[in-house]
Amino acid sequence: MKVRLVLAAAAAMLSLAGAAFAQQPIVIKFSHVVAVDTPKGKGADYFKKIAEERTKGRVKVEVYPNSTLFKDGEEMEALQLGSVQMLAPSLAKFGPLGVREFEVFDLPYIFDNYDELHKVTSGPVGQALLKKLESKGIIGLAYWDNGFKDMSANKPLKVPADYKGIKMRIQSSKVLGDEIKALGAIPQVMAFSEVYQALQTGVVDGTENPPSNFYTQKMHEVQKYLALTNHGYLGYAVIVNKKFWDGLPPEVRATLEGAMKDATKYANDIAKKENDDALEAVKKSGRTQIITLTPEEKAAMKKALVAVHKENESRVGKETIAEVYKETGFKP
Ligand code: LMR
Repeated sequence: MKVRLVLAAAAAMLSLAGAAFAQQPIVIKFSHVVAVDTPKGKGADYFKKIAEERTKGRVKVEVYPNSTLFKDGEEMEALQLGSVQMLAPSLAKFGPLGVREFEVFDLPYIFDNYDELHKVTSGPVGQALLKKLESKGIIGLAYWDNGFKDMSANKPLKVPADYKGIKMRIQSSKVLGDEIKALGAIPQVMAFSEVYQALQTGVVDGTENPPSNFYTQKMHEVQKYLALTNHGYLGYAVIVNKKFWDGLPPEVRATLEGAMKDATKYANDIAKKENDDALEAVKKSGRTQIITLTPEEKAAMKKALVAVHKENESRVGKETIAEVYKETGFKP
């Protein structure tokens, strides 16, 4: 009798534990470095909302914005180690991982607008680049837009001569380093979370970013001029830890893939307006003067910067560059 009771109690405990285990949600930690109020921040929050709704709570997405969980230089390793399951690093941050071809997106002036960019991200070149991540234990799920970068400093930057000798913060991309050197300035790689303070204290003189990042990081408080150079693109790849993703129950993975598809459309649909609105907000703040380049100034910038393409053929891949040129119609 006693043995039977003990066995029954043990069975009940086991089934309770089983039920509790079955109810444990699958947690996706999604870490990123920008503010909530940006194309990426809003895209991440939208993904959380629809992923949780559509999996009826079986999946819980915890979004950590603004480098609160991991910073640049930490987040890729954290993803590979499984400390975080999802990230959306800028395409300029894949070089240190050993996938240098992503720096094709950093080549100055290679895209004139979002339509040209989308031909690449949704075409064979973009998809082949995502595939390259698998050997690093990472799956690339989608490309998310931010926008086109402008140059800022405490002096008006109109032509290459204006850049001589100034220190410019860049993301961890060799192509971007060469871009800054081509202008006669000094590149300094720095985590995004440190840029505001570095600008404030004069550790660097200027930087490049789309208006959405410039405004939401309050760089307008510490930069007197923003030149509308539109010289390059900044966007993201949404990536997941491969082991985690492959280990999901197939029906959950399929639902999440659907949610990612819709979150991608959402993020890409809002990106341009977010940047337009941010630029308006910078203007309204009255803290930063907006510089519009004349056609001659634009031509001088382009002339200096397009040289960076050839210089980086061996790094980025001659074929990758040629394929992108073909998609966008870019003529060097
Ligand atoms: C930067 O470091 O400037 C950007 O990559 C930040 C971001 O994620 O948009």
